[in-house]
Amino acid sequence: MTTTSSVITLNVNGEKHTLPVDHRTTLLDALRERLDLTGTKKGCDQGQCGACTVLIDGRRVVSCLQLAMAAEDREITTVEGLAEDDRLHPVQQAFLDLDGYQCGYCTPGQICSAVGVLAEHAEGWPSAVTGDVRPEAGAPALTAEEIRERMSGNLCRCGAYVAIVDAVARAAQAPDQASAVSAQDEGSIR
Ligand code: FES
Ligand code: FES
Repeated sequence: MTTTSSVITLNVNGEKHTLPVDHRTTLLDALRERLDLTGTKKGCDQGQCGACTVLIDGRRVVSCLQLAMAAEDREITTVEGLAEDDRLHPVQQAFLDLDGYQCGYCTPGQICSAVGVLAEHAEGWPSAVTGDVRPEAGAPALTAEEIRERMSGNLCRCGAYVAIVDAVARAAQAPDQASAVSAQDEGSIR
């Protein structure tokens, strides 16, 4: 008989959770429905809006297109895991300070995506609007155009895009952004 469920262990925000899951369960549904981590939002449930963005091993992933089983034994970070004790992550603080939201539904995904953007940029990744993509050119300046392109997978039905771009730019200048990014590189971002 074919087995349709398995017991898996998910490492979320530094905590291990062992749970049985149907093989078809997405990471998004496992986080929200099984682990009660409802900060990660379900928008389209088909990979088009970015509301469900989380970080896996420090990289951005739309969790509605990721099977929970495929995330076993990897470092999953949701919006609930970004702050350190009572200190918000620089990206969270910038969104708060600059009103980078209206209804807030897209915000957890925007914030997780922005954390990924800053890490990718720190590593020198080009984007589709980067003019000079030669490795020796180094990372491009994180202009509004670069931020808009890099955040283009995250939709906001409220249209808070201007403040979101400002918030990402502000977070990129945060004094502790470098340490936040290097912690992410080590797979220990919180
Ligand atoms: S809910 Fe995953 S991309 Fe929209
Ligand atoms: S703040 Fe409402 S959807 Fe983005």
